[in-house]
Amino acid sequence: MRLDKYLSKSLGISRRDAKKLVLSGRVRVNGKVQKDPGFKVEEDTVDLDRIAVERPKENIYIMLNKPVGYISTTKGESPTVLKLVDHPRVDELFPVGRLDKDARGLIILTNDGEFSHKVTSPKSHIEKEYEVVVEGNAGNSLKLLEGVKLNDGHFAKALKVEISGNRINIVIDEGKYHQIKRMMAAVGLKVVELRRTRIGNLRLDIPEGSWRELSEDEIEKVINKR
Ligand code: URA
Repeated sequence: MRLDKYLSKSLGISRRDAKKLVLSGRVRVNGKVQKDPGFKVEEDTVDLDRIAVERPKENIYIMLNKPVGYISTTKGESPTVLKLVDHPRVDELFPVGRLDKDARGLIILTNDGEFSHKVTSPKSHIEKEYEVVVEGNAGNSLKLLEGVKLNDGHFAKALKVEISGNRINIVIDEGKYHQIKRMMAAVGLKVVELRRTRIGNLRLDIPEGSWRELSEDEIEKVINKR
């Protein structure tokens, strides 16, 4: 792990402040001043002003296949998605973005705020794929490829639309509130089932109601458009 990341995670400070600390010469690695914020720390000891800085805990990244009926927050009246996860550090976790109570499918849980921000920021343009069952003429959804105005005046566009009967496979790279339902409404369609199957290049591959930890490769797959 980079030295600035190590400090930022262990001390709970921003990456920018951590970099400043390193550049100021107050940080030592194995007792020697280290002024390179990108210096790779492995099993080394780190101190700030000669006071040991503990190794930060590993971050946690979990894939969950959310069933209908659970809310994607950490607290609430209905059962939260965290109820489905019997991980020893579950209290640290929060969902990355939202999936409506009546929607199902892929949701990522983590304790890494920076990662969560990257995935949900509109600037990242991370793709999300959904399977949607609609009421109405599904053919109307092809209009979403050109883009539509939502009920709040914002413009939204689909990257891919595939239709099979009343089932639509749709890819978007934004994450506005109730985006799929509002896009479908904009072309006269009512969503009766909504299931997220992919975030970035990470595809849902576990049964409904179950969860598993993600490997480093898979975490990369979420944020890197390869
Ligand atoms: N779009 C929606 O309308 N709801 C979701 O839960 C996700 C995307």
